[in-house]
Amino acid sequence: MHPVTIRTFLNKKEKKEKIIMMTAYDYPSAKLLDEAGIDAILVGDSLGMVVQGNTTTVPVTLEHMIYHAQMVSRAVQRALIVVDMPFMTYQESPQQALHHAAELMRLGGAQAIKVEGGSEIAPTVSRLTSAGIPVMGHIGLTPQSVHALGGYTVQGRTAHAARRLFADALALQKAGAFAVVLEVIPTEVAQTVTTQLQIPTIGIGAGPNCDGQVLVFHDAMGYTNGYVPKHNRVYTHLAESIRTAVQAYIDDVNSGNFPAQEHSIHLKAEELEILNQLNDPKTPPSQ
Ligand code: KIV
Repeated sequence: MHPVTIRTFLNKKEKKEKIIMMTAYDYPSAKLLDEAGIDAILVGDSLGMVVQGNTTTVPVTLEHMIYHAQMVSRAVQRALIVVDMPFMTYQESPQQALHHAAELMRLGGAQAIKVEGGSEIAPTVSRLTSAGIPVMGHIGLTPQSVHALGGYTVQGRTAHAARRLFADALALQKAGAFAVVLEVIPTEVAQTVTTQLQIPTIGIGAGPNCDGQVLVFHDAMGYTNGYVPKHNRVYTHLAESIRTAVQAYIDDVNSGNFPAQEHSIHLKAEELEILNQLNDPKTPPSQ
Protein backbone atom coordinates (compact mmCIF):
# COMPACT_ATOMS: atom_id res chain seq x y z
CA MET A 1 0.00 0.00 0.00
CA HIS A 2 1.50 3.31 -1.11
CA PRO A 3 0.57 6.35 0.91
CA VAL A 4 -0.89 9.21 -1.12
CA THR A 5 1.38 12.26 -1.33
CA ILE A 6 1.22 15.55 -3.17
CA ARG A 7 3.25 13.78 -5.90
CA THR A 8 0.35 11.35 -6.35
CA PHE A 9 -1.92 14.36 -6.97
CA LEU A 10 0.33 15.68 -9.73
CA ASN A 11 0.81 12.20 -11.26
CA LYS A 12 -2.94 11.67 -11.31
CA LYS A 13 -3.46 14.93 -13.17
CA GLU A 14 -0.82 13.94 -15.72
CA LYS A 15 -2.44 10.53 -16.22
CA LYS A 16 -5.95 12.07 -16.28
CA GLU A 17 -6.98 9.94 -13.29
CA LYS A 18 -9.53 11.45 -10.93
CA ILE A 19 -8.53 12.51 -7.42
CA ILE A 20 -11.19 11.66 -4.84
CA MET A 21 -11.39 13.60 -1.57
CA MET A 22 -14.00 13.66 1.19
CA THR A 23 -14.14 15.38 4.55
CA ALA A 24 -13.88 13.49 7.83
CA TYR A 25 -13.70 14.83 11.35
CA ASP A 26 -13.28 11.76 13.56
CA TYR A 27 -11.59 8.36 13.88
CA PRO A 28 -14.32 5.96 12.69
CA SER A 29 -15.35 7.89 9.58
CA ALA A 30 -11.72 8.58 8.61
CA LYS A 31 -10.90 4.88 9.01
CA LEU A 32 -13.80 3.85 6.78
CA LEU A 33 -12.89 6.39 4.09
CA ASP A 34 -9.24 5.38 4.18
CA GLU A 35 -10.03 1.67 3.97
CA ALA A 36 -12.36 2.36 1.03
CA GLY A 37 -9.41 3.83 -0.86
CA ILE A 38 -10.19 7.56 -0.88
CA ASP A 39 -7.15 9.62 -2.02
CA ALA A 40 -7.38 12.49 0.44
CA ILE A 41 -9.25 13.24 3.64
CA LEU A 42 -10.02 16.87 4.29
CA VAL A 43 -10.46 17.82 7.92
CA GLY A 44 -12.57 20.72 6.77
CA ASP A 45 -13.68 23.67 8.85
CA SER A 46 -17.13 22.68 7.55
CA LEU A 47 -17.07 20.78 10.86
CA GLY A 48 -18.23 24.07 12.37
CA MET A 49 -21.53 23.57 10.55
CA VAL A 50 -22.05 19.80 10.22
CA VAL A 51 -20.57 18.75 13.59
CA GLN A 52 -20.82 21.82 15.83
CA GLY A 53 -24.18 23.03 14.48
CA ASN A 54 -23.12 26.60 13.63
CA THR A 55 -24.55 28.39 10.59
CA THR A 56 -21.07 29.35 9.31
CA THR A 57 -17.47 28.16 9.61
CA VAL A 58 -16.42 31.45 11.21
CA PRO A 59 -16.51 30.29 14.88
CA VAL A 60 -14.08 27.39 14.26
CA THR A 61 -10.75 27.78 16.07
CA LEU A 62 -7.27 26.36 15.56
CA GLU A 63 -7.76 24.23 18.71
CA HIS A 64 -10.92 22.68 17.21
CA MET A 65 -9.03 21.84 14.01
CA ILE A 66 -6.13 20.27 15.93
CA TYR A 67 -8.55 18.20 18.04
CA HIS A 68 -10.35 16.79 14.97
CA ALA A 69 -7.16 16.37 12.93
CA GLN A 70 -5.68 14.25 15.74
CA MET A 71 -8.63 11.84 15.60
CA VAL A 72 -8.40 11.57 11.82
CA SER A 73 -4.64 11.13 11.70
CA ARG A 74 -4.83 8.28 14.22
CA ALA A 75 -7.09 6.40 11.77
CA VAL A 76 -5.47 7.03 8.41
CA GLN A 77 -2.82 4.78 6.83
CA ARG A 78 -2.95 5.73 3.14
CA ALA A 79 -4.90 8.88 2.30
CA LEU A 80 -3.32 12.34 2.28
CA ILE A 81 -4.53 14.29 5.32
CA VAL A 82 -5.35 17.89 4.44
CA VAL A 83 -6.43 20.20 7.26
CA ASP A 84 -8.21 23.53 6.88
CA MET A 85 -6.70 26.62 8.47
CA PRO A 86 -9.69 28.26 10.15
CA PHE A 87 -10.91 31.87 9.91
CA MET A 88 -8.31 34.50 10.87
CA THR A 89 -5.54 32.03 11.67
CA TYR A 90 -3.62 32.93 8.47
CA GLN A 91 -4.99 36.21 7.13
CA GLU A 92 -3.01 38.54 9.44
CA SER A 93 0.46 37.81 8.04
CA PRO A 94 2.55 35.05 6.42
CA GLN A 95 4.31 34.71 9.79
CA GLN A 96 1.01 34.09 11.61
CA ALA A 97 0.08 31.52 8.94
CA LEU A 98 3.45 29.77 9.25
CA HIS A 99 3.13 29.50 13.02
CA HIS A 100 -0.42 28.09 12.87
CA ALA A 101 0.23 25.72 9.95
CA ALA A 102 3.15 24.28 11.92
CA GLU A 103 0.79 23.62 14.86
CA LEU A 104 -1.65 21.79 12.58
CA MET A 105 1.18 19.60 11.30
CA ARG A 106 3.02 19.05 14.59
CA LEU A 107 0.03 18.60 16.91
CA GLY A 108 -2.74 17.58 14.49
CA GLY A 109 -0.85 15.32 12.09
CA ALA A 110 -1.76 17.38 9.00
CA GLN A 111 0.25 16.44 5.91
CA ALA A 112 -0.99 19.46 3.98
CA ILE A 113 -3.05 22.51 4.86
CA LYS A 114 -5.79 24.36 2.96
CA VAL A 115 -6.34 28.11 2.87
CA GLU A 116 -9.15 30.09 1.29
CA GLY A 117 -8.42 33.01 -1.04
CA GLY A 118 -6.76 33.95 -4.33
CA SER A 119 -4.07 36.46 -5.33
CA GLU A 120 -4.30 38.28 -1.97
CA ILE A 121 -3.19 35.13 -0.15
CA ALA A 122 -0.39 34.24 -2.62
CA PRO A 123 2.44 35.75 -0.48
CA THR A 124 1.26 33.59 2.44
CA VAL A 125 1.10 30.47 0.27
CA SER A 126 4.61 31.28 -0.94
CA ARG A 127 5.92 31.62 2.63
CA LEU A 128 4.33 28.31 3.66
CA THR A 129 5.48 26.32 0.65
CA SER A 130 9.02 27.69 0.88
CA ALA A 131 9.07 26.42 4.47
CA GLY A 132 8.14 22.93 3.23
CA ILE A 133 4.42 23.02 4.03
CA PRO A 134 2.21 21.61 1.25
CA VAL A 135 -0.65 24.03 0.58
CA MET A 136 -3.99 23.43 -1.12
CA GLY A 137 -5.73 26.59 -2.30
CA HIS A 138 -9.48 27.22 -2.28
CA ILE A 139 -11.24 29.74 -4.52
CA GLY A 140 -14.76 30.44 -5.77
CA LEU A 141 -17.24 30.23 -2.91
CA THR A 142 -14.98 30.61 0.11
CA PRO A 143 -17.21 29.94 3.13
CA GLN A 144 -15.04 31.88 5.62
CA SER A 145 -15.97 35.03 3.61
CA VAL A 146 -19.69 34.26 3.65
CA HIS A 147 -20.53 37.64 5.19
CA ALA A 148 -18.42 39.54 2.64
CA LEU A 149 -19.87 37.50 -0.23
CA GLY A 150 -23.42 38.14 1.00
CA GLY A 151 -24.30 34.46 1.40
CA TYR A 152 -23.46 31.05 0.01
CA THR A 153 -23.84 32.13 -3.62
CA VAL A 154 -22.41 30.94 -6.93
CA GLN A 155 -19.13 32.73 -7.80
CA GLY A 156 -17.53 33.50 -11.18
CA ARG A 157 -20.85 33.98 -12.94
CA THR A 158 -19.74 36.86 -15.21
CA ALA A 159 -16.88 36.90 -17.70
CA HIS A 160 -15.01 39.45 -15.54
CA ALA A 161 -15.52 37.43 -12.36
CA ALA A 162 -14.37 34.32 -14.21
CA ARG A 163 -11.19 36.10 -15.31
CA ARG A 164 -10.47 37.07 -11.70
CA LEU A 165 -10.79 33.39 -10.78
CA PHE A 166 -8.31 32.42 -13.51
CA ALA A 167 -5.86 35.02 -12.17
CA ASP A 168 -6.36 33.77 -8.61
CA ALA A 169 -5.79 30.14 -9.62
CA LEU A 170 -2.59 31.04 -11.49
CA ALA A 171 -1.34 33.14 -8.54
CA LEU A 172 -1.85 30.18 -6.19
CA GLN A 173 -0.02 27.85 -8.57
CA LYS A 174 2.86 30.33 -8.92
CA ALA A 175 3.05 30.61 -5.13
CA GLY A 176 3.59 26.85 -4.91
CA ALA A 177 0.14 25.41 -4.09
CA PHE A 178 -0.03 21.72 -5.06
CA ALA A 179 -3.79 21.75 -5.79
CA VAL A 180 -6.73 24.11 -5.66
CA VAL A 181 -10.34 23.57 -4.58
CA LEU A 182 -12.92 25.21 -6.85
CA GLU A 183 -16.18 25.66 -4.96
CA VAL A 184 -19.57 26.47 -6.52
CA ILE A 185 -18.53 28.03 -9.81
CA PRO A 186 -19.91 27.43 -13.33
CA THR A 187 -18.73 24.25 -15.04
CA GLU A 188 -17.21 26.18 -17.97
CA VAL A 189 -15.11 28.34 -15.66
CA ALA A 190 -13.88 25.30 -13.73
CA GLN A 191 -13.02 23.55 -16.98
CA THR A 192 -10.93 26.49 -18.19
CA VAL A 193 -9.09 26.79 -14.85
CA THR A 194 -8.43 23.03 -14.93
CA THR A 195 -6.99 23.23 -18.44
CA GLN A 196 -4.86 26.29 -17.67
CA LEU A 197 -3.29 24.91 -14.48
CA GLN A 198 -0.49 22.37 -14.17
CA ILE A 199 -1.65 21.57 -10.63
CA PRO A 200 -4.89 19.63 -10.08
CA THR A 201 -8.25 21.25 -9.40
CA ILE A 202 -10.63 19.62 -6.92
CA GLY A 203 -14.23 20.61 -7.52
CA ILE A 204 -17.26 20.90 -5.31
CA GLY A 205 -20.22 22.30 -7.20
CA ALA A 206 -17.84 23.02 -10.08
CA GLY A 207 -18.95 20.41 -12.61
CA PRO A 208 -17.40 17.18 -13.86
CA ASN A 209 -14.30 18.53 -15.61
CA CYS A 210 -12.13 19.19 -12.56
CA ASP A 211 -9.21 16.86 -11.88
CA GLY A 212 -10.90 15.62 -8.72
CA GLN A 213 -13.96 15.99 -6.55
CA VAL A 214 -14.57 16.63 -2.86
CA LEU A 215 -17.76 16.18 -0.84
CA VAL A 216 -18.67 16.90 2.77
CA PHE A 217 -19.09 13.55 4.57
CA HIS A 218 -22.33 14.44 6.34
CA ASP A 219 -23.95 15.72 3.13
CA ALA A 220 -22.90 12.69 1.09
CA MET A 221 -23.99 10.22 3.78
CA GLY A 222 -27.37 11.84 4.42
CA TYR A 223 -26.33 12.58 8.00
CA THR A 224 -27.91 16.03 8.22
CA ASN A 225 -31.17 17.59 9.31
CA GLY A 226 -32.46 17.58 5.78
CA TYR A 227 -30.74 20.51 4.00
CA VAL A 228 -28.71 19.25 1.06
CA PRO A 229 -26.72 21.64 -1.18
CA LYS A 230 -27.70 21.40 -4.87
CA HIS A 231 -24.24 20.18 -5.87
CA ASN A 232 -24.28 17.25 -3.44
CA ARG A 233 -25.28 13.65 -4.12
CA VAL A 234 -26.68 11.72 -1.15
CA TYR A 235 -25.11 8.25 -1.29
CA THR A 236 -26.88 6.79 1.73
CA HIS A 237 -29.40 7.92 4.31
CA LEU A 238 -27.60 7.69 7.66
CA ALA A 239 -29.96 10.08 9.47
CA GLU A 240 -32.94 7.97 8.44
CA SER A 241 -31.20 4.72 9.49
CA ILE A 242 -30.26 6.22 12.86
CA ARG A 243 -33.82 7.50 13.46
CA THR A 244 -35.24 4.05 12.69
CA ALA A 245 -32.62 2.32 14.86
CA VAL A 246 -33.19 4.61 17.87
CA GLN A 247 -36.96 4.10 17.64
CA ALA A 248 -36.44 0.31 17.56
CA TYR A 249 -34.20 0.55 20.66
CA ILE A 250 -36.80 2.59 22.57
CA ASP A 251 -39.52 0.12 21.60
CA ASP A 252 -37.38 -2.91 22.53
CA VAL A 253 -36.55 -1.58 26.00
CA ASN A 254 -40.16 -0.59 26.65
CA SER A 255 -41.44 -4.00 25.54
CA GLY A 256 -38.77 -6.00 27.42
CA ASN A 257 -37.41 -7.33 24.15
CA PHE A 258 -33.94 -5.92 24.98
CA PRO A 259 -31.69 -6.99 26.62
CA ALA A 260 -32.26 -10.63 25.57
CA GLN A 261 -30.49 -13.78 26.84
CA GLU A 262 -27.49 -13.22 24.57
CA HIS A 263 -26.89 -9.77 26.05
CA SER A 264 -27.10 -10.94 29.66
CA ILE A 265 -24.47 -12.16 32.13
CA HIS A 266 -25.35 -15.01 34.50
CA LEU A 267 -23.88 -16.30 37.73
CA LYS A 268 -22.44 -19.84 37.64
CA ALA A 269 -24.97 -22.39 39.00
CA GLU A 270 -22.87 -23.14 42.12
CA GLU A 271 -22.49 -19.43 42.96
CA LEU A 272 -26.23 -18.91 42.47
CA GLU A 273 -26.96 -21.78 44.84
CA ILE A 274 -24.69 -20.29 47.53
CA LEU A 275 -26.25 -16.88 47.03
CA ASN A 276 -29.75 -18.32 47.37
CA GLN A 277 -28.73 -20.07 50.59
CA LEU A 278 -27.23 -16.86 51.96
CA ASN A 279 -30.38 -14.97 51.05
CA ASP A 280 -32.57 -17.57 52.73
CA PRO A 281 -34.04 -15.95 55.87
CA LYS A 282 -33.39 -19.23 57.69
CA THR A 283 -29.64 -18.88 57.11
CA PRO A 284 -28.03 -17.35 60.22
CA PRO A 285 -26.38 -13.96 59.47
CA SER A 286 -22.64 -14.26 58.90
CA GLN A 287 -20.30 -12.74 61.47
O1 KIV B 1 -14.45 22.83 4.92
C1 KIV B 1 -14.71 22.09 3.96
O2 KIV B 1 -15.30 21.02 4.09
C2 KIV B 1 -14.30 22.52 2.63
C3 KIV B 1 -14.84 21.77 1.46
C4 KIV B 1 -16.22 22.17 1.19
C5 KIV B 1 -13.98 21.92 0.25
O3 KIV B 1 -13.58 23.47 2.51
